[in-house]
Amino acid sequence: MATQLAVGERERLNEVFGSFIDETIGIVARQTRDTVSFAVGSPAREALELVGADDLAATVIRREGASALGYTMTEGEPELRAAISADARARGIDADPEEVLVSAGALQAIDLACRVYLRPGDVVVAESPAFANALSAFRNHGAHVVEVAVDGEGLDVAEAARVLRRDGLTPRMFFVVPNFQNPTGETLSDHRRSALLALAATYGALVIEDDPYGLLRYRGKDIAPLAARDSAVEVVSIGSFSKTFLPGLRVGWVIAGRDTIGRMAAAKQTMDSSTGTLGQRIVLEFERRGGSAAHVAKLRDMYHAKQERGRAALEREFAGTGVRWNDPDGGFYFWVRLPQGMSARRLLDVALEEGVAFVPGDAFAIARDHSDALRFSISGPTLDRIDEGVRRLRRAFDRVAS
Ligand SMILES: Cc1ncc(COP(=O)(O)O)c(C=O)c1O
Repeated sequence: MATQLAVGERERLNEVFGSFIDETIGIVARQTRDTVSFAVGSPAREALELVGADDLAATVIRREGASALGYTMTEGEPELRAAISADARARGIDADPEEVLVSAGALQAIDLACRVYLRPGDVVVAESPAFANALSAFRNHGAHVVEVAVDGEGLDVAEAARVLRRDGLTPRMFFVVPNFQNPTGETLSDHRRSALLALAATYGALVIEDDPYGLLRYRGKDIAPLAARDSAVEVVSIGSFSKTFLPGLRVGWVIAGRDTIGRMAAAKQTMDSSTGTLGQRIVLEFERRGGSAAHVAKLRDMYHAKQERGRAALEREFAGTGVRWNDPDGGFYFWVRLPQGMSARRLLDVALEEGVAFVPGDAFAIARDHSDALRFSISGPTLDRIDEGVRRLRRAFDRVAS
């Protein structure tokens, strides 16, 4: 097949942004099987094996036959929408089943929100660093993304207000990952959540909260979701079964007003018509058996142990080197800062030779500089492999520093 495009043809094509996270994971996949990967943000293999997917799938197909493999409603299986709405209510979000749409993962929900709300040139305020795939979604929809720093309390709302005022910008949308953010692991504090809603209200902007990690808290108390608070702005709440069940099923959701759900359903009809029926029914079967609360409790224990192991290993190998890292209360990630001037991409090249991988910080930004930071994910490797991986990382660091 010819791969060269004629000049005119090239000009007609839109630039399309993907994800350097996925690219890095591709790079890692091409390494030897022995590479310890702190790069992936997907659940541990042990976690996927825990759910008994073979029995869940077999039961659904045996009991429901062809209907489990047929088309379903665009908005999702009614029973699953009801289950998602009940879980949301338990977290203080007042959502009817009609205000839920089952999406193909949280990512599709983000894209649907862009389709429904954004026009080219609209301003989106996002965290920096941010979930890279979301940044790409905003850019693919023609948005102008304003990147605002994240600190120990999440998005710096005061900085957002300053930048918007200084540059005379009127935002259409704020996008946050409120709990154990990807890639820093930081959590938006209670008073920042209120401040963010107040800031959005001054502009009549909407707020998207994307919360795939909220159930994976290992310390401290849950903080009320943005969508659970009294506010004058529209809050769109996005969630996923990817981190706490099976990401390959591609089942997530969005909670929004009925009018928005209707518009999202119309947009989804030209994408995939509906989220896969079998995947939705497998999720439902797991919920029906009452397995999900116990499963999430096991995951919390498993990832908590990994997080502690990662923290201890970083302390052991990197104390006194000038490398710093933060102290998240949950989720998969640490944000690791290298001594000033050391490039995480350069470190990655050497790290891959040593048999360890991570995602460099600049993968999570458009214009802001995170080149001396990296995302360190503890979700994949076993405890012993975490120790081994951090030893390798130290060897790579010494080579780059020397
Ligand atoms: C913040 C955030 N949102 C969304 C996703 C994607 O989730 P899903 O698999 O449900 O599309 C991820 C996964 O890495 C994530 O970290």
